Amino acid sequence: MCGIVGYVGSRQAAPIVLEGLKRLEYRGYDSAGLAVQQDGKIVMLKKVGKVSHLESALHAGTMAGSVGMGHTRWATHGEPSEVNAHPHLDCLGAIAVIHNGVIENYSVLKKKLLADGHRFQSDTDTEVLSHLIEDLQKAGGDLEQAVRQALHQVKGTYGIVVMSSREPGKLIVARKGSPLVIGFGEEEYLIASDPSALVQHTRKVIYLEDGEFAVVSMEGVSTRTLDDVAIQKSVEELTIELEQIERGGFEHFMLKEIHEQPETIRNSLRGRLQVDEGVVKLGGLEQVKDKLLAARRIIILGCGTSWHAGLVGEYMLEGIAGIPTEVEYASEFRYRNPVIMESDVVFAISQSGETADTLAALREAKAKGATVLGIVNVVGSTIARETQGGVYIHAGPEIGVASTKAFTSQLTVLALVTLLLARARGVPHVDYTLLMNELDALPGKVGKVLEGAGRIKEIAEVFKDARNFLYLGRGSNFPVALEGALKLKEISYIHAEGYPAAEMKHGPIALIDEKMPVVCIVPKDAIYDKVISNVQEVKARRGRIIAVANEDDDDIGDLAEFVIRVPRTFGFFGPILNVVPLQLLSYYMAVARGTNVDQPRNLAKSVTVE
Ligand code: F6R
Repeated sequence: MCGIVGYVGSRQAAPIVLEGLKRLEYRGYDSAGLAVQQDGKIVMLKKVGKVSHLESALHAGTMAGSVGMGHTRWATHGEPSEVNAHPHLDCLGAIAVIHNGVIENYSVLKKKLLADGHRFQSDTDTEVLSHLIEDLQKAGGDLEQAVRQALHQVKGTYGIVVMSSREPGKLIVARKGSPLVIGFGEEEYLIASDPSALVQHTRKVIYLEDGEFAVVSMEGVSTRTLDDVAIQKSVEELTIELEQIERGGFEHFMLKEIHEQPETIRNSLRGRLQVDEGVVKLGGLEQVKDKLLAARRIIILGCGTSWHAGLVGEYMLEGIAGIPTEVEYASEFRYRNPVIMESDVVFAISQSGETADTLAALREAKAKGATVLGIVNVVGSTIARETQGGVYIHAGPEIGVASTKAFTSQLTVLALVTLLLARARGVPHVDYTLLMNELDALPGKVGKVLEGAGRIKEIAEVFKDARNFLYLGRGSNFPVALEGALKLKEISYIHAEGYPAAEMKHGPIALIDEKMPVVCIVPKDAIYDKVISNVQEVKARRGRIIAVANEDDDDIGDLAEFVIRVPRTFGFFGPILNVVPLQLLSYYMAVARGTNVDQPRNLAKSVTVE
């Protein structure tokens, strides 16, 4: 969502903060702002739009100072505008605050502060914090104490950085619900909401936990709880490499990430799929193995693309391992008083590991006694830390807002979990050797799909002006239809719907005419003939069919106007291959329409508000 960067050190803060903000732009980017402590004052600059707008407005020699902080904003309260961009100041311009999260009781606090004579500039929830801190400082006491008291009055979530011109040389940092990490460089400290903003400067970091508070100055970093109890944090080592967060010659991060998939899937399998020994090893599940084996039911929680991965996981876990599985939108789960049993095992799937809804849902399940596990990409993220075990997907940093490589790695990990459980539970009639070999062959097969990118680009040119799209699939390819439609909506802003192919005749078939593009996923699996009947129904109504079909399907050309070929694999693993052309199709459609592929409007990479 929004991005935070802070700097205390011996170098000029502004360029370092700006550079960090650029690395965080993918999280939220409708406006950006910067504040630096200079000659006993706070100087500030804010701009609507991208960080580059802020950078071009920054004139040489202005904003000189070695303590500073900046923010990229994704609007929640108040439209994107300069006044609503962070930082937010108090009445005297002496206290500045940047904030990720939502202050839920801001209107009550604001009313009181207005009645006490405070003058507000913005429509944001964040601004109440600067005025509240100002108000509390009037009663005496230092900045640290005032921030602490203010946070005790606040309901909601926050990751904040605060500075004051009256107490130069320091930044105050606190976290509840929105991630913050502090990096230790040489004679400098950096603060960020995401480690990718730090990796250029240091690998040594501490992660703040909820309810923790830090004062960062040249004297060091002192960490305490919000209730002022000293805590010792252990310094951790970042494992991401700088080139992983750069575009590496590709026009967009999304295209780079689509093309990385043979490698990222291999990374998800590495050391876990041991084909020669005929075993699957998942170290992160060892400690909870007994719980997993005794589980009467698996519940999968996630949002967006991660939820789609969960749906495919349900097909695998029920279809191969025979374990009753339910998949829920994390955002719905917590508000419907779900029945959770101690014998339930819950998997939270999340690329970022920070999605507020997923985190809240897993906390709910944990509180009700379930064993909670994670399938997460970002190492050290909140979901990874709050679960009792789990499996990292090892897809590497995903910067493009539309999730691609994380999805295929989530599916790969779900396949591994399925095989592990099926074997441990002694499920009969599963040909483990075949399935393991199929998994092992997936990276190469994804590589083959990618070779067809040129053809998919041509198809995108044909359909770039379409107003609507339908995506149809059955069985484990139904979630792939959902995912294909989501990708198209997200980055090319074309209305698209994913549907189970056979459900079409119960309503959406009314939409089909000679203008409607219909993407049909028709692998030669056990239900091929059924899906073909549904494709016939589309053809009979003159819909424009784009088929994703296997290389050896000689008949599909008679039905479809365009055919995209994918290699064959074992049925339940098909989604890992079939989604790749849909990712490419949405990418090329977006490029043809001239939209901002990596940073689509209104979206943020990591959704840390409810
Ligand atoms: C879609 C997309 C989102 C995320 C969703 C969950 O391309 O990126 O739908 O999948 O916001 O995010 P994570 O996986 O980080 O929990």
